[in-house]
Amino acid sequence: MKKIIAIYPGTFDPVTNGHLDIIERACELFEKIIVTIAVNPGKAPLFTEEERKDLILKVTGHLKNVEVDSFKGLLVKYAESKNAGVIIRGLRAISDFDYEFQLALTNKKLNAGINTVFMMPNEKYSYLNSSLVRELASYDANIKEFIPEYVLEKLKEKFRK
Ligand code: COA
Repeated sequence: MKKIIAIYPGTFDPVTNGHLDIIERACELFEKIIVTIAVNPGKAPLFTEEERKDLILKVTGHLKNVEVDSFKGLLVKYAESKNAGVIIRGLRAISDFDYEFQLALTNKKLNAGINTVFMMPNEKYSYLNSSLVRELASYDANIKEFIPEYVLEKLKEKFRK
């Protein structure tokens, strides 16, 4: 099998068990996975870039071939700078498809040498997203099964402040 570097981009505000499930599966398929935080000046995330990095680092500590990074600007340019041959995206439900299809085709147009690989998380995470997790945490709901323990602690700290 070819040794391929894959990037897994996202906002990760915060990383959830659904993301982690994809990262763990991707680790079996690629030489190296770079989980990279998209720093978008138009978004006002709950966790800072450094906090989001720390969360991902902690919850992927058991995986040997994972790196954590962040980027600004065009994803394809970032992928090129990392010699990545693959962009990983999670497909949770059919509702993700239109947006992901547009993203993947645009990225292919910009660089045909970089392939988007779609991966499905376990169905128990198919309805999950970070906004939902943030909202539930703000109401102190029980979200233990959606996020790793460390992320739960940090979310509780955020909403206590
Ligand atoms: N489990 C749980 N939740 C998941 C998930 C999974 N496996 N996969 C995605 N999600 C959720 C995320 O938590 C996020 O939730 P939120 O909207 O509530 O915060 C949502 O799905 C969107 O996912 P995310 O992966 O964070 O995508 P995004 O839309 O924020 O980011 C980029 C997409 C960063 C890849 C894209 O905007 C990009 O490439 N930006 C750089 C600029 C660029 O190159 N633009 C041209 C692109 S063609």
